Parts: sequence; structure tokens; C-alpha cells
Amino acid sequence: MNQSSEKIRVGVCGANGRMGREVVKTVLDAPDMELVMAVDLQPQGEDIAYLVGRPEPSGVLLASDLSQALVAHKPQVVVDFTSPAVVLQNALTVLSHGAKSVIGTTGLTSEGIRQIEEQALAGKSAALIAPNFALGAVLLMKFAQEASRYFDHAEIIELHHNKKLDAPSGTAHRTAALMAQVQPKFGPTNVDPALEKEILQGARGGVAEGNLHIHSVRLPGLIAHQEVIFGGVGETLTIRHDSLDRVSFMPGVALAIRKILNAQGLVIGLENFL
Ligand SMILES: NC(=O)c1ccc[n+]([C@@H]2O[C@H](COP(=O)([O-])OP(=O)(O)OC[C@H]3O[C@@H](n4cnc5c(N)ncnc54)[C@H](O)[C@@H]3O)[C@@H](O)[C@H]2O)c1
Repeated sequence: MNQSSEKIRVGVCGANGRMGREVVKTVLDAPDMELVMAVDLQPQGEDIAYLVGRPEPSGVLLASDLSQALVAHKPQVVVDFTSPAVVLQNALTVLSHGAKSVIGTTGLTSEGIRQIEEQALAGKSAALIAPNFALGAVLLMKFAQEASRYFDHAEIIELHHNKKLDAPSGTAHRTAALMAQVQPKFGPTNVDPALEKEILQGARGGVAEGNLHIHSVRLPGLIAHQEVIFGGVGETLTIRHDSLDRVSFMPGVALAIRKILNAQGLVIGLENFL
């Protein structure tokens, strides 16, 4: 429960998407939260409870105009699972209305992140950007950072469903950034990089922070998966995480909603709330 024992007023942006619907169910079921706002492009005016398969109405109708919905329903926290194209504008709008922003949508640029931080500080509010809300994925990132102290060769393979819009995944990017904090330049292959020839463009993946190569797989049937493979002398170490269902993200989302109430400014990564 929050300090006042009143329910936390929560809004969901992207409420009718794959992740948004899970968040709606989580908030409806949480005894310390009240769902007060649901925003998505369509179908406007429908009760969100019916859209997530609940037999009883919630009284929260799907709205399409975020600014109007913020004024009308005054959520304390808004959770965003929309798309890389709109997440920045959504976050700035939420923060400018004095609500706190929990951002699960991936694909934000470093300039976008800077603007969110500026707006959060200016409005004495807070934003959390969490590339992955699954506890196992947060631990994978932590373990990969730790292993980076001992291995100077590594590559990342991330695997997602084929409707994902951004590549590489936010989790892969964040993993690379965390690993690069302790190992600024991972080694390339053993051959002279100038001699290595990419016969098929992209075959070696994208190169992120720390010279880490990231390979993105997109297939139906997958949800969200990642491997970090370390190479050493006569050995490899593989750290892998699999989200087998979108419910895997929900304990992290609920934790973020509760913790952001007492946060200020920008927080990056759920690990800061664990
Ligand atoms: N952080 C995490 O743990 C995590 C986990 C899974 C997915 N994601 C990310 O979450 C995002 C959403 O994923 P998804 O699978 O739910 O996508 P989705 O396409 O199923 O849902 C996105 C929803 O956002 C809605 N939308 C688009 N523009 C909007 C706007 N301007 N205002 C309101 N709603 C709008 C769409 O209509 C759709 O219903 C992606 O960026 C994905 O990578 C993050």
C-alpha cells in the first residue's frame, strides 16, 4: 500500500495492446490500485474490462486523446506500452500534467531520454524507463555485467515475436550498455578486423556500446528471449532468459507503479526499484 493507504490512481496508455491488456488486468486485480484511465487508438468508448475478457464492466471507457483523459481522470501514475513512434510525446504529455510515468515501450533515442529527464525534473515528477520488467531479465543483465569483469569477448542474441517494431530490443541495448560500463571494449574475433569480410551484409549483427555485437531474431511463436554468450580460453559461458508469457512482466510493472510514487526525476532500469 502507498503511504496514505489510498488506492493508487493508475492510467494505461496502449491499453488495448498485447502488453497494455495485461497491465489493465494487473491493475484491476491489485488491491492497492484503481484503474482510472485507459487510452488507445480504438475501439473508443468501450469498457476496457470487456476488452481484456472480464465479465463485469470496470466503468473505465477507452479514450483516444491522452491529454483530455489526463485532465478528466487525474491518474497519479501512467504506464505506457505503445510504440517507439509515440512514446516520447506520450511521456512528455503525462509528465506535463504532473503524473508519474512508467515507460515499458522500447525504442527511445538518447535525445528522447534526455527530454524525458528534463520534463520530469521541471515538473517535479518522475519517470521510469524499464527496457524489461521481467525479474529474470533484470538478473540476466546483472549477471552479464558481472561476467564482463572476467571475459573480454561476448556477443548478444535477442529473439522476439515477429510483430516487434524495433531492433535490437531495448533489453539487448541496455545489456550492452551495462556490460560496457565494466569492459569498455570487448574484443572482436581473433582475426584482424580489417581482414574479416562480411559476405552477407548484417551477418555479424549490429555493433552497440563496448563493441558488442547484437543479433536480432524475429519469429512467430517467440515472446521475448535473450542470450549473452561469453567466449574465453577453451570455454564459453551462456546466460539466457526466456519470457514464456507476457504475465512475466507484470510483477515488475506492479512494483514500478508502487515505487515511482516516491521517486523523483528519471530512473532507468527496474533494478533501481528492487
Ligand atoms: N519493457 C518491457 O518489459 C516490455 C515487454 C514487452 C514489450 N515491450 C514493449 O512494449 C511496446 C508495446 O508492445 P506490445 O507488444 O504491447 O505492442 P502492441 O502493438 O500489441 O500494442 C501497442 C498498443 O499501443 C497503441 N497505440 C499506438 N499509438 C498510440 C497512441 N498514440 N496512444 C495510445 N495508444 C497507442 C496501439 O493501438 C496498440 O494497441 C513495444 O515497444 C515493446 O517492445 C516492453
